[in-house]
Amino acid sequence: MPDIDYSTYLRLHEVLGAQHPVSPLHGVEAHDEMLFIVTHQVYELWFKQIIYELDSVLEVLQRDSIDDNTGDMGIIVQRVNRMAAIWRLLGRQIDILETMSPLDFLEFRNFLMPASGFQSVQFKLIEAKAGLRVASRYGGEYYKHMGHGGVSETDHAHITAAETRPTIKTLLRAWLERMPYLMKKLWTSDLTPRRFLTAYRRAYLASLNNLEDRETRRDEFSRIFVRDGHGDFTPAAMRSALFIMLYRDYPVFQLPYQFLVALLEFDEQLSIWRYRHLMMLSRMIGLRVGTGGVNREGKNKDSYLEGALKSNRLFAELADLSTYLIERRMLPQIPVGVLRELGFAHS
Ligand code: HEM
Repeated sequence: MPDIDYSTYLRLHEVLGAQHPVSPLHGVEAHDEMLFIVTHQVYELWFKQIIYELDSVLEVLQRDSIDDNTGDMGIIVQRVNRMAAIWRLLGRQIDILETMSPLDFLEFRNFLMPASGFQSVQFKLIEAKAGLRVASRYGGEYYKHMGHGGVSETDHAHITAAETRPTIKTLLRAWLERMPYLMKKLWTSDLTPRRFLTAYRRAYLASLNNLEDRETRRDEFSRIFVRDGHGDFTPAAMRSALFIMLYRDYPVFQLPYQFLVALLEFDEQLSIWRYRHLMMLSRMIGLRVGTGGVNREGKNKDSYLEGALKSNRLFAELADLSTYLIERRMLPQIPVGVLRELGFAHS
């Protein structure tokens, strides 16, 4: 093999040869179109890296059991944290695009119609692989509509296929459901998991201050942890997630806790990006319709991007758990056997 050099290894000829502004084709010299192209390309490269990490996390989570002793959980946590760090950077990149003024953008904006970020298939694959379901989305199926300004038939099929495969969210739910710590065999006949939950609910209700609606909270507690579950999570999954949050200081829960926090961070950074993107477009194009034409404002209704910001959360159920936490000192007793288990790594 001949020696490899920097530009051959990085295929710089192809990467750096892929910026082709369209304004000169219209006889216009729009200086900022280069920044616009480079920014979007950098985004798509980072999206590629996020999908690469997502796929590797999905592969580990799909195993029947996740073995802490081989570092599986450590790898998952590290990669989800990396995904969150990338989104944090993507949020900040908006600063650079905002150095372009609305007038600079107008120089070339109309030449782009009907192309739009809405057609970013990688962005939609990230959402789908993480577990955002069509039913939970703002506007349902609209997010992958075809035709003018929409996604192509091939991209539509690609996104739909990703939705039918296991996602981070469905695999997280299954992992939480099979967690052993709230299973009867570790508990005693006096102190069953069910009794623990009843005692916990009592302590929780007692911890609420007068501004809270106790009755609603009590009903919601039963709905979420006993009857129906919450969002995409079953009651068993929600109970395990709550248990991890409560006993996060024990060795066995440290990585599971970090996993949940990393997912929350990923979700938060994605939402921050959505918000910043929305603010940027407001100052860039005001109330005008986007180049893809999908962001029209309904009468007294949110525009598509405002709706997506509010509805398209990935792991809101985990964030909502904080509603049901109590002070450590008020935690009800759990059997010594379970405490002992929490002290050691398990597989
Ligand atoms: C001048 C800068 C930008 C403006 C004015 C802008 C505007 C818009 C508008 C109006 C939409 C809604 C679709 C439409 O009606 O066209 C949209 C969607 C979108 N844009 Fe941008 N955008 C900008 C930069 C970016 C950048 C740098 C990215 C990075 C990839 C991006 C990614 C997206 C994505 C992923 C969507 C779809 C979001 C979803 O379906 O939830 N945009 N953008």
